[in-house]
Amino acid sequence: MKERRIIVFDTTLRDGEQSPGVSLSESEKLEIAIQLARLGVDVIEAGFPVASKGELEAVKRIAKEVKGPVIAALARASEEDINAAAEALSPAERKRIHTFIATSDIHMQYKLKKSRDEVIEMTREAVSYARKFTDDVEFSAEDATRSDPDFLCKVFEVAIDAGATTINIPDTVGYALPHEYGELVRTVMNKVPNIDRAVVSVHCHDDLGMAVANSIAGIIAGASQVECTINGIGERAGNASLEEIVAIIYCRQKVLNCYTSINTELISRTSNLVSILTGMPVQPNKAVVGANAFKHESGIHQHGMLSNPLTYSILDPKLFGVTEEVIVLGKHSGRHALEMRLQKLGYELNKGQLDQVFKRFKELAEKKREVTDMDLAALVSDVLHTAPEIYQLDYMHVVSGKGTVPSATVRIQFGDEILLATGTGVGPIDALYKTIDKLITIPHRLVDFSVRSVGPGTDAVAEVFVRIADEEGNLFGGYGISTDTIEAAAKAYMHALNKLAHSKAQQKSKPNQLAVGSCAGA
Ligand code: KIV
Ligand code: ZN
Repeated sequence: MKERRIIVFDTTLRDGEQSPGVSLSESEKLEIAIQLARLGVDVIEAGFPVASKGELEAVKRIAKEVKGPVIAALARASEEDINAAAEALSPAERKRIHTFIATSDIHMQYKLKKSRDEVIEMTREAVSYARKFTDDVEFSAEDATRSDPDFLCKVFEVAIDAGATTINIPDTVGYALPHEYGELVRTVMNKVPNIDRAVVSVHCHDDLGMAVANSIAGIIAGASQVECTINGIGERAGNASLEEIVAIIYCRQKVLNCYTSINTELISRTSNLVSILTGMPVQPNKAVVGANAFKHESGIHQHGMLSNPLTYSILDPKLFGVTEEVIVLGKHSGRHALEMRLQKLGYELNKGQLDQVFKRFKELAEKKREVTDMDLAALVSDVLHTAPEIYQLDYMHVVSGKGTVPSATVRIQFGDEILLATGTGVGPIDALYKTIDKLITIPHRLVDFSVRSVGPGTDAVAEVFVRIADEEGNLFGGYGISTDTIEAAAKAYMHALNKLAHSKAQQKSKPNQLAVGSCAGA
């Protein structure tokens, strides 16, 4: 039988962005969308335009600037939502309106307060209304896995009759077992009389850790679109992870008899980008993209790997963009060597960015001698994701030790002013952050802080992720790297604070009205 091509529908920017604590700016969403297009996803669900003006504008920008994949926007089964989706998608070359309504009794009774007949009518009206704007309309039956299968099939029949070209079967609450989910997909494929006119799609959540297994069960049952997110981010425990699904389809292609069009070599880089921009680190033991995913620790495994990598490894890390190569600084490792290496890793940098990366590479290589591909990826992210530096960290001195009160001295440049303060804390990072807070007094609170090491050894580069929230609860992520963990923490905090300051400055369009703390050195 001929291999089936599985359509990869990425919803990192919609369901993924619904992860608690994640909030991406318009330019960050665009950057992720461009990377998803490079990765080769077929559909990018860019957002839920009716949610806010900002969301609508971000979807519109992606629709205008990202070419290749179909750009989709989510809408409830209402004219207002569909109008917003249609407006946001208007510049897209290829667009899809994705409309949905819940079909489980519990949702219809308590959330929608609608009868089955009303839901059927709303489905018909929403899909036919969406078809006025595009020929590509997806319909989802929210909470499909807890719906009465006969009713679900009826709703899908009506949706297809009204013009839906894709019907999606969400396991909204991550409840189904793989064999049950596969059975439901089979039921839909066998019982919906006009199913041959639509693509069947799977969409699974990970509440019981089965999102990927359920998605694969759905594909085995005949679904030909899979909805997923980078790093599996999403509402609650998240969605099915794109990299795991793609790796499974790649690794077990003969059994599954299908393939995707994903450029697997860009998976690691895409995962990194999403992790940095969302401020959500990837757990080290995560399949395919975790820092330990391809590492072998035990002697027996290492011995086997040296004799034949197939003894303990089923995936070639290089195929997923994970490389162990190092650039050793010497008289031959100049700008050209770095440029070639970055190109090989898939980075497209302009001259200014390359200059900055080269400068940072030299600084790092002086401290570390060997700079790995992982170090380079972190370095490039650090350079590319610097916010406009309204506040520049000019000097810091942090003291900690046994029997000492941790303290920090920080000097920050703000326009022509030099701000200087000292402070103490319960630890060195607490002292540092409290001292920075004396100088940058825009109201905010730290909501998340995490450190991870890029590679092994005490000279490894440390990556720090922070998230801060302003008074309205808007979140700003920060990222910093250095071989010095405290310096990385300072950079990450300054990065987030500069984003916050930039957003406040844009609101007021008067940067000199920004809050500035006491200015001992001015
Ligand atoms: O999980 C879900 O039900 C959804 C739908 C809106 C597709 O995300
Ligand atoms: Zn979902």
